[in-house]
Amino acid sequence: MIERLPDHPSAREPEPFAGPDHPMRTLTRAVALGEPWTSDDADRVAAVFDDLAEEWSVRHIDDTKAAPVQDALERGDVPVGGAWLELGSGTGAGARILVGSVGSLVATDLSAEMLHHAPGELAPRVRADASMLPYRDRSFDAVLMINMLLFPHEVDRVLREAGTVLWVNTLGDQTPIHLPPEDVLAALPGEWSGRTASAGTGFWLTATRS
Ligand SMILES: C[S@@+](CC[C@H](N)C(=O)[O-])C[C@H]1O[C@@H](n2cnc3c(N)ncnc32)[C@H](O)[C@@H]1O
Repeated sequence: MIERLPDHPSAREPEPFAGPDHPMRTLTRAVALGEPWTSDDADRVAAVFDDLAEEWSVRHIDDTKAAPVQDALERGDVPVGGAWLELGSGTGAGARILVGSVGSLVATDLSAEMLHHAPGELAPRVRADASMLPYRDRSFDAVLMINMLLFPHEVDRVLREAGTVLWVNTLGDQTPIHLPPEDVLAALPGEWSGRTASAGTGFWLTATRS
């Protein structure tokens, strides 16, 4: 079940950017549906983002990221005081928004260069593939993904029983790494319910086990 909250006053349509045929869209859906993620996939994606990292650290720390994450913190019923894990944390957009608002945060990414350009003083940075995370079962109260691939079984594994998944697409359905809220809930193992809203050019979804 998904509860749809009214749009945040900042909500607006994103400019056309990445349609349904975008290659990242295809990969996102395949990974969420459990198709194999190989070491070649990991190397290829890491290389793409290693190359983008310097520019990303300048151009992709902006309000499109902040609006949906902040709205989720306010209306998403998230465990603000808990232990948070960010997957695909990139150059630190999430850490910049969350710092001071959540109990603790670990920032993880596949790309060493993206992590290198993230501010280490805001959250510890860990190079990790989200398809096989170096954390024990049930370690975190919240798992955040901003424009990041969904590896449903690993998210489910590391999240505590009453934990929350926060899924954010900052350009809505124009985000290259996009899944709509219904598909995120369906991909997660077992029964989940969600709450979603639009904010800025994006949307957020919080998901908890039913
Ligand atoms: C579109 S960028 C988003 C970065 C950041 N969340 C932001 O909004 O600026 C996607 C990020 O996910 C990372 N990523 C992709 N596949 C990953 C994987 N299997 N494990 C961990 N990180 C991954 C990439 O290296 C990249 O930093």
